[in-house]
Amino acid sequence: MAAEGDKMLGGRLGGTTDPVMEMFSASITYDQRLSEVDIRGSMAYAKALEKAGILSKPELEKILSGLEKISEEWSKGAFVVKQSDEDIHTANERRLKELIGDIAGKLHTGRSRNDQVVTDLKLLMKNSLSVISTHLLQLIKTLVERAAKEIDVILPGYTHLQKAQPVRWSQFLLSHAVALTRDSERLGEMKKRMNVLPLGSGALAGNPLEIDRELLRSELDFASISLNSMDAVSERDFVVEFLSVATLLMIHLSKMAEDLILYSTSEFGFLTLSDTYCTGSSLMPQKKNPDSLELIRSKAGRVFGRLAAVVMVLKGLPSTYNKDLQEDKEAVFDVIDTLNAVLQVATGVISTLQINKENMEKALSPEILSSDLALYLVRKGVMISLGQQTRKLETHSLHVSQVVELLPGGLGSNLQMPFRQAHIASRKAVHLAESKGIPINNLSPDDLKTISPLFGSDVSQVFNVANSVEQYRAMGGTAKSSVTAQIEQLRELLKKLKEQA
Ligand code: ARG
Repeated sequence: MAAEGDKMLGGRLGGTTDPVMEMFSASITYDQRLSEVDIRGSMAYAKALEKAGILSKPELEKILSGLEKISEEWSKGAFVVKQSDEDIHTANERRLKELIGDIAGKLHTGRSRNDQVVTDLKLLMKNSLSVISTHLLQLIKTLVERAAKEIDVILPGYTHLQKAQPVRWSQFLLSHAVALTRDSERLGEMKKRMNVLPLGSGALAGNPLEIDRELLRSELDFASISLNSMDAVSERDFVVEFLSVATLLMIHLSKMAEDLILYSTSEFGFLTLSDTYCTGSSLMPQKKNPDSLELIRSKAGRVFGRLAAVVMVLKGLPSTYNKDLQEDKEAVFDVIDTLNAVLQVATGVISTLQINKENMEKALSPEILSSDLALYLVRKGVMISLGQQTRKLETHSLHVSQVVELLPGGLGSNLQMPFRQAHIASRKAVHLAESKGIPINNLSPDDLKTISPLFGSDVSQVFNVANSVEQYRAMGGTAKSSVTAQIEQLRELLKKLKEQA
């Protein structure tokens, strides 16, 4: 238990505190992480006090050099936390008094820990968010540059975790990169929104000394000044926003991790993770566990848990400062640390994994092109009904004569086939192949003609994955031209995002 005289904040309470209560209410074990920003805030506030005539010039100098000394102690690990130090604010002030005497007591004039703590937290977060943004951009860049390098690799794309259509490996990588750019934008936006100075709001009513808040703003490099003191000391919107943005970012990363874990199994065999990011099993020598990705996946739960905790703390809280708000810091610190680690590990995993092209190709079974078979019928129909419109025909890269040759009714016959019907025909082909026990691409033209007269000898060109992916030339698709355009746009976007990081 702290000896009576030691305590910074005896307040009106004369009695002793239960030692368990003392530990329960103290935050110094974790909020010492605010030591540097707390000193920065105090230096700015001391300057404002001097301007307001509360401190003389020599007193200001004394306070500033004392604070400088304390900052040095923290950075050298020489600051000795005392049992009576409740939090970082009281600890720094206690030490200042030890160093420069009673003048230290002037520093807190018109200030409250309520406006002090929220200012400190914002200062720390502004720095940390820049670091997080930089790591995030590095991860996006790694995905984009890998996509550029491996643009010719094709693998099955999945819906419902069932083989759906062939896509470029790059399309897959970029799908994750694009999601992450939204996270990066959100981080930048919330960083802007939180850039409002709370210091000078006092306990709740404002500052009684006509303190120059503009001076505080520019000293502490905030973009603007809070409009209402009661709101300023209590709002933790920026905490909730940060934790929400972080949660969504982690959800994206957990999805990417899950894809990569699946693809690295021997069942898929699409990729091999670097040993650097895996561990072996203590029991089964054949195993290589994707621990890095599993931990990334799990940390999404951890980060969301932090968000849920803070949101619950805030719900129904009465106006202005309540001690409940002390809970915000551990959540923020933990999520900052988690994101920094996760983003760097994810970048490492992506940049070092090896793809197994042969296995990807092997997985591209001909059935994956069944939707192309339906499209083949639709295109045939379109070509017939459009007759001489060679321009349209060219967009389907077939010459009119090739088409006419294939038509039972010749040019002008109205055989345009709606997609739904073509889909049924293609499904019949799938079933026919299944019943014959052969792959769909081994059905003969005669087999196919029993399903639709539109099937011609050129149908074999459908069963080519390279042709298949090249159909998706519309913006956002998996054709080479479209993927190249995505890469170019993402490179541009990265430049812009770097500027606001
Ligand atoms: N350690 C406190 C916190 O983290 C600082 C503010 C305390 N203010 C108060 N009125 N008790 O929120």
